[in-house]
Amino acid sequence: MNAIEVAGLTKYYGSFLAVDGVNFEVKTGEVFGFLGPNGAGKTTTIRMLTGILKPSRGEVRVLDYDMLREGEKIKARERMGIVPEMANPYVDLTAMQNLRLMGELYGMSRREIEKRSTELLRLFDLYDKRDKKVRTFSKGMRQRLILAMAMISDPELLFLDEPTSGLDVISARMIKDVIREEKRKEKTIFLTTHNMADANELCERIGIIRKGKLIAIDTPEKLKGLVKGRVSVEVSLEPMKFEPGAVTSPIKVERMGDKVRIFTDDPDATIRELVGYTERENLRIISLRTLSPSLEDVFVELVGDRDD
Ligand SMILES: Nc1ncnc2c1ncn2[C@@H]1O[C@H](COP(=O)(O)OP(=O)(O)O)[C@@H](O)[C@H]1O
Ligand SMILES: [Mg+2]
Repeated sequence: MNAIEVAGLTKYYGSFLAVDGVNFEVKTGEVFGFLGPNGAGKTTTIRMLTGILKPSRGEVRVLDYDMLREGEKIKARERMGIVPEMANPYVDLTAMQNLRLMGELYGMSRREIEKRSTELLRLFDLYDKRDKKVRTFSKGMRQRLILAMAMISDPELLFLDEPTSGLDVISARMIKDVIREEKRKEKTIFLTTHNMADANELCERIGIIRKGKLIAIDTPEKLKGLVKGRVSVEVSLEPMKFEPGAVTSPIKVERMGDKVRIFTDDPDATIRELVGYTERENLRIISLRTLSPSLEDVFVELVGDRDD
């Protein structure tokens, strides 16, 4: 079953087209990343998925509810947690009071709220600070609290808009660990990010959005496969001897210090040829590795220059 289904999703701000006929599905239990540069339309999309913003056109189904129907939207929202972009807890309330307020919004009992809040405060390492006003919290602590608030009702679906953007390393890691833990508990997570490393680390599938258009959608590994000719085989031989005829039809051969890097469309064939070459020439293989393109290579290839 799909947790999210989107068809022809479109948003105009006045005459400006911010999201342009986007189609995709997010499977139940999946961590799905929406990756794109600033201004690509990520926040606009997540706001339409969560029923905060009305699409200009298109269909949005979340947890099998039609988000364009008021009554169904309310039912869907009861089962989701949302971390909006640059959200802030109430700074004049304590961490605990913020959690209570959120729990009450979800209609939870006092007892449930206390139990779940304690769990979450511990999970996000905020328990000792639970009775301190949020005003005294660092940015990272505030964001951890925001995530705890979004998780108060133990929702089956989480929407996170750039959850680790601009955070200290410890807070970012804690949030990523929680995302992985929620995944283990079979929750569905939709997250936006402009950070390739985060998308690569966390997501099972990634949609890449550019200027409102979804330009690619696949697993991180398959997306990397889109970047032809960027796979290379790096080898170091002893004695270091490499002749152009050693491998047939490489895309490019680069000498780098005591190594040779061979760019190829077929790393398997290249490695076999290399091994044959070293046997014929009686050379020792000191090291041999295959280098895959990074998600960043894919991103640059697909998205191109940020200003174009
Ligand atoms: N309320 C708004 N009114 C007009 N334009 C907006 C509004 N919100 C966003 N935009 C524009 O829509 C585009 C997409 O914005 P956004 O969805 O916030 O992108 P992202 O989250 O990927 O950075 C940007 O060009 C932005 O300036
Ligand atoms: Mg945004």
